[in-house]
Amino acid sequence: MIPFINVRAQREAYKSEFLQAEQDVLDSGCYIGGPVIQRFEAELAAFTEANNVVTCGSGTDAITIALLALGLEPGDEVIVPDFTFIAPAECVMRLGGIPKFADIDAGTLQISAESVETLIGEKTRGIIAVNLFGQCAPYREIQKVAKAHGLWLIEDSAQAFGATQCGQNACTFGDISITSFYPAKPLGCYGDGGALFTVNDELAQKIRLIANHGSCTRYVHEICGMNSRLDAIHAAVLRVKLRHFKDELKKRSENASKYNEFFGAIPGIAPQKIADGNTNTYAQYTLLVEDRKSFIEKLDATEIPYCIHYPKPLHEQPCFKEQVQARGNTNATEASQKVVSLPFCAFTDVEEIIAGLKKVM
Ligand SMILES: Cc1ncc(COP(=O)(O)O)c(C=O)c1O
Repeated sequence: MIPFINVRAQREAYKSEFLQAEQDVLDSGCYIGGPVIQRFEAELAAFTEANNVVTCGSGTDAITIALLALGLEPGDEVIVPDFTFIAPAECVMRLGGIPKFADIDAGTLQISAESVETLIGEKTRGIIAVNLFGQCAPYREIQKVAKAHGLWLIEDSAQAFGATQCGQNACTFGDISITSFYPAKPLGCYGDGGALFTVNDELAQKIRLIANHGSCTRYVHEICGMNSRLDAIHAAVLRVKLRHFKDELKKRSENASKYNEFFGAIPGIAPQKIADGNTNTYAQYTLLVEDRKSFIEKLDATEIPYCIHYPKPLHEQPCFKEQVQARGNTNATEASQKVVSLPFCAFTDVEEIIAGLKKVM
């Protein structure tokens, strides 16, 4: 069976480097914090050109920490995209905030700045924009709306570390930006992990404090924080992968072009649009398919795995039923009925998949 994401092929490709890096951490006796974390944070800062980087336990933790650092209070409203993974809305709710669901652009599937603007009210404090499937949200427009209404902006780049917009790196568009190192992400570790990025030194200090039990001096706790740290062993793995990351992005882009060429010629199927000025990490290679049912039958017949990211807009999720008012959000709803994601990573044999599909399409 073709793997949806071939993490084992990646492991094989850099195996000796991984083994050495893992062994070094195990032998060092330093498993939390320490030099490997410091080096990795410096490398992330150099890669993104963000001045402050703080690693943490997961992308979800990173959003929670960002909301705490920005001072979210119970009853505050935060605008999130209606069509994305649950984490941004979930983190807002967990802290007593109220997520408001903005519609998306029908082609790029990114949060719509126009829709964001319609949701702004007296209780609105901020916006969480998601870089969906690997390309940046429309930051010029979103930043303009945020600025005009005095709102903070969190950039959720869990899926788009390594993307760019008009030459600017993802993870530098928000007051705070976050990413995830979940294993299936373009830059993933061997468990949970995440990071926060900010140009604001004061916010960076708060973030460090919150992520480490509210403490920067041992056993002195200035606030009640949380325990959210990237383990050194994961940082060691990520440092190896980061060395190969630019090559992998190139390969991902080549693979996407091959898919695009094939699917672009098939009526009723459209690859997710890439907005002008964006480069894409293709955390997911996602198609919009008019007749999804029969396309899935063809994938099943050729044993090509697929995923539906995501089968419902967030406003239809049972967990938000009580707290939020359902909105129309027609583009988000339509996308949830059309999307199909195909096997994808730098090690995916896209030609094999296309050859399989050619037999049935
Ligand atoms: C857009 C988005 N935000 C946040 C997260 C949460 O990241 P993590 O799984 O590291 O908690 C994910 C994970 O898939 C995501 O896709």
